[in-house]
Amino acid sequence: MSVISNQTIEVAKDSLIFSEGEAGDCAYVIETGRVLVYLTREGVEVPLSILGVGEIFGEMSLIDSQNRSASVRALEDVRLSVVNKEQLLRRIYETDSVVQLLMKVLLKRLRLNNENQVSPQRALSATTASREAGEALNQLKIENEVHEAFQKREFALFYQPIVSLESKKVVGCEALLRWLSPEHGMIAPDIFVDVIEASAMVIPIGKWIIEQAMIDLKKIQNELIACGEQDVSDAFQMSINISGQQFVHPQFLSDIDELSRQHGVFSSNIKLEVTERIMLDGSLAIDVLEQCRNRGYSISIDDFGTGFSSLQYLAKMPIDVLKIDRSFVAKMFSEEKSHAVVKSVIYLAHALKLNIIAEGIETEADMQALKELGVQYGQGFLFSKAVNLGEFLKKLK
Ligand code: CMP
Ligand code: MG
Repeated sequence: MSVISNQTIEVAKDSLIFSEGEAGDCAYVIETGRVLVYLTREGVEVPLSILGVGEIFGEMSLIDSQNRSASVRALEDVRLSVVNKEQLLRRIYETDSVVQLLMKVLLKRLRLNNENQVSPQRALSATTASREAGEALNQLKIENEVHEAFQKREFALFYQPIVSLESKKVVGCEALLRWLSPEHGMIAPDIFVDVIEASAMVIPIGKWIIEQAMIDLKKIQNELIACGEQDVSDAFQMSINISGQQFVHPQFLSDIDELSRQHGVFSSNIKLEVTERIMLDGSLAIDVLEQCRNRGYSISIDDFGTGFSSLQYLAKMPIDVLKIDRSFVAKMFSEEKSHAVVKSVIYLAHALKLNIIAEGIETEADMQALKELGVQYGQGFLFSKAVNLGEFLKKLK
């Protein structure tokens, strides 16, 4: 294989370009000549296809991050133009999320088909295959609906008050996504949030959430000032949930800066809620966390204790607040283990000098117990469920 430039290579007749099972780092477009795509099973070559000028190969492993699905060999002297992984993925990333999903579904189908050709007996059973196709189709359907709903502005932000357990005053709120479907009514977030987070829609929808929350924050602060509560307004914090993908997206920091400027919002009035899962990106996440802190945004760790969580990360993360998940608070009195978890999280937060917000406070007893353990803030039905902006503003009066 000879390199003509960093974009073009020449491969002599009969040479192997890559083998099945290898990791792929680039794809190729054929400029001249032809290649053979084949599998080898029990020493026997099974040809899959012959590709010629203008065709691309080696793209599958880049798109679905699996190993090379087949081997490719030059049938003649060939000249290939190299498409690197970043180039290809950037373009794919910019396409519509439904097209992305479609691509994945088709690749899965092609891999399955290749496998069927060489060893029908080892191929997935018909029922498994059709179940997989059904799942993929179902996911595609939900994704499509979510995408359409977003375009039709059927999403709204609701706000749940965050209350000081000491003064009982509302000190902030959490922005929560709701889908108000004209067809099905209000749809619970657990049905669609995962779909959004697993798709590229998370970036535009996430950005819309930040912007809407900022616009509404301004309205809330103005209402507080109108009620003579300047101090409360100055200290009011809007908590915005940020998904892992969104948090480490290259545009995230500039987007949030730009939006704060545009809407005249102070970073000190914004709290970013992230989950422990952002730490899967390791040092990148720490870097973004630090940059957020430097800009004056507070950071709280959501769903603490429910994730893959590891304490070793927690000490490294530049954060301000720990949120105790509602699942622990709900069982605090009925399950000794939940009580132990709540107590340890509080102990840990104190040791790390973090504030604590307890979610899911439903009764006076929950509140008393948490307050006695040293929890400063709470959220839950005892105070209010999440309500639309209009109702939230009324509560401030
Ligand atoms: P990749 O999986 O990266 O590496 C092997 C390549 O062979 C694959 O990408 C496709 O470009 C190509 N390929 C796999 N299966 C077929 C097929 N059935 N017909 C044509 N090309 C294929
Ligand atoms: Mg949250």
